[in-house]
Amino acid sequence: MPLVTTKKLLLDAQAGGYAIGAFNVENMEMVQAVVAAAQELNSPVILQTTPSTVKYASLDYFYANVKTAAENATVPVVLHLDHGSSFDLAMRALRSGYTSIMIDGSHLDFEENIKVTKAVVDACHPSNVSVEAELGKVGGKEDGLDGGEGNPNTDPKEAALFVEKTGVDSLAIAIGTAHGVYKGEPNVDIKRLSEIKEAVSVPLVLHGTSGVPDATVKECIARGICKVNYATDLRIAFSKGVNDVLHDSPDTIDPKKYNAQGREEVKKYVMSKIQVCGSVNKA
Ligand code: 13P
Repeated sequence: MPLVTTKKLLLDAQAGGYAIGAFNVENMEMVQAVVAAAQELNSPVILQTTPSTVKYASLDYFYANVKTAAENATVPVVLHLDHGSSFDLAMRALRSGYTSIMIDGSHLDFEENIKVTKAVVDACHPSNVSVEAELGKVGGKEDGLDGGEGNPNTDPKEAALFVEKTGVDSLAIAIGTAHGVYKGEPNVDIKRLSEIKEAVSVPLVLHGTSGVPDATVKECIARGICKVNYATDLRIAFSKGVNDVLHDSPDTIDPKKYNAQGREEVKKYVMSKIQVCGSVNKA
């Protein structure tokens, strides 16, 4: 089917007490793997690209890949801009056909974050494209940008004001998760999540989920998370598949051989996380 927007998917997830998995894709095989996993489990799915991925191969290439995969599937597929770094990039993604946009003004001060988020919301809503914003700072490195150490988690009162002033459709919150590989077990502030959920009615988004124990992710979903982002573990899965083939047959020169194995590993991983999200048979 044609690409869909996130709005209805996330509201349905919120009403049903499950989440939609959002998976970062970086090449055609990852796109195929994520959509195949969703198709096999009859689940809606979000595919997303960061600014550095867009820089690597352009918005149009990813749009063409994901649109083709979606049209060959019967489950709802979203193409989302992850961590949109500027109003300009958000507008370019909108024009390219992305059906969901994140504007990440979390590095700005509160008022500036509101300003850029509202500008993107005002530009996207006439096309029914939904907008995600971020308040508070998810730690670790995303796309080469350092979230920094000891940055503040999302304040529930600020979150309520932010949503009211921007009209944003979903909100990424900082509750102790971090992008990248965790050194130890992440310390997720479940109580803060409940307080934010109490204060804010839009669907909430969890970033930095690779490496977070499945039980913790399920607890977060039970307390209001409706979109769960996975990136690093897909990279690891894809690279494992490629490395396995090249390790066993170092003379392999056909990229299809090792890329197919990378694709298979990503599909397995995504299927397991769709199950954690509880969105099986919600297509
Ligand atoms: P991880 O790389 O930690 O899975 O984070 C993904 C993410 O939040 C993308 O926005």
